[in-house]
Amino acid sequence: MYIEKLMEKGAQFLGCKYPIMCGAMTWVSDARLVTAVGNAGGFGLLAGGNSPVDAFEAEIQKTREMSSNPFGVNLITVAPNYKEHLNMVLNAGVEVVVFAGSIPKAKEIAQVKKAGAKVICFAATEALAYKMVTQGADALVLEGSEAGGHIGPVSLTVLLQQILFKIDKVPIFVAGGIATGRMMAHMMTMGAVGVQMGTRFVMSRECTAHYKFKEQFIRAKARDAIATPAFDSRLPVIPVRALKNEGTNEFAKLQLELINKLEANQIGRDDAQYEVERFWMGALRRAVIDGDVVGGSLMAGQAVGLVDEIMTIQGIMDELITEADQTLAEIKDRLCDCGK
Ligand SMILES: Cc1cc2nc3c(=O)[nH]c(=O)nc-3n(C[C@H](O)[C@H](O)[C@H](O)COP(=O)(O)O)c2cc1C
Repeated sequence: MYIEKLMEKGAQFLGCKYPIMCGAMTWVSDARLVTAVGNAGGFGLLAGGNSPVDAFEAEIQKTREMSSNPFGVNLITVAPNYKEHLNMVLNAGVEVVVFAGSIPKAKEIAQVKKAGAKVICFAATEALAYKMVTQGADALVLEGSEAGGHIGPVSLTVLLQQILFKIDKVPIFVAGGIATGRMMAHMMTMGAVGVQMGTRFVMSRECTAHYKFKEQFIRAKARDAIATPAFDSRLPVIPVRALKNEGTNEFAKLQLELINKLEANQIGRDDAQYEVERFWMGALRRAVIDGDVVGGSLMAGQAVGLVDEIMTIQGIMDELITEADQTLAEIKDRLCDCGK
């Protein structure tokens, strides 16, 4: 298979058959989803979110009991429980740690590496990619602004040219708007060692998100997954890409309230940002767990317009691999034709 050849480096890095990561999704990525992805040859990531540290540790244990596949954990540096999560993970013997949220400290990256895990960092801008490599990241995920959840400011197309085509010190995975084997194949020919997807994996049977949450994904078009605006530089918020609903309007109201409080010195900047994170964690829980698709947060990437069927994880993986391999064969034929 052509695709397996192109995937060798990423597969070796992650210790799995296919370097297709199911990106961690708070309230979504649990032991069941991670195990299913691993069983199908991919690489799952457990989401730390802001869960109580005991619950997070128990989920790691549960994942280990469900299979012996390697998997990773995702830590959100801006989550109120972050420090406890980090300390627990240092002693948990996990294979891979992905830092998300803000920029992890060099000391924290070093601690995780010393504990025996590989460190993957997000790079949402060119400057961040270089910083993360300098600080010791073992690999990067270039995530374009097409992605679901908290997003950076730059599209994947530009990040590929700024980072993937220039940095060869560490393996690079790509994310944001990828949902087909065809796209995956093209990313690999450009030099990516693997991909990360979120939106596509929400649409799986093994994903325990409420059926109403998945129903919204089935209905939505790419243009429905919009990024939240930042109103004022005094309250720097990380934009979130989600399907527009009452919840997105509520966030706009919260931002204005917080800006007014900041202006009146009734709240500090850090506390205001903490309130923002608390809002998202709660709103996402309401949508994913309770099925409140009106007021909850329907975090989704623009790839929502590419998926309308709920499949098994094995079915998704098989489709991705077959399509990617066919695409590579087509590319090879096209190149051979040119040479004639
Ligand atoms: C519902 C949802 C929740 C997410 N939560 C997290 C998270 O907790 N940590 C994280 O690093 N990324 C999170 N993400 C981003 C995904 O891990 C992944 O990088 C992203 O979905 C890739 O883009 P795609 O949606 O276009 O496939 C989330 C995405 C979604 C859709």
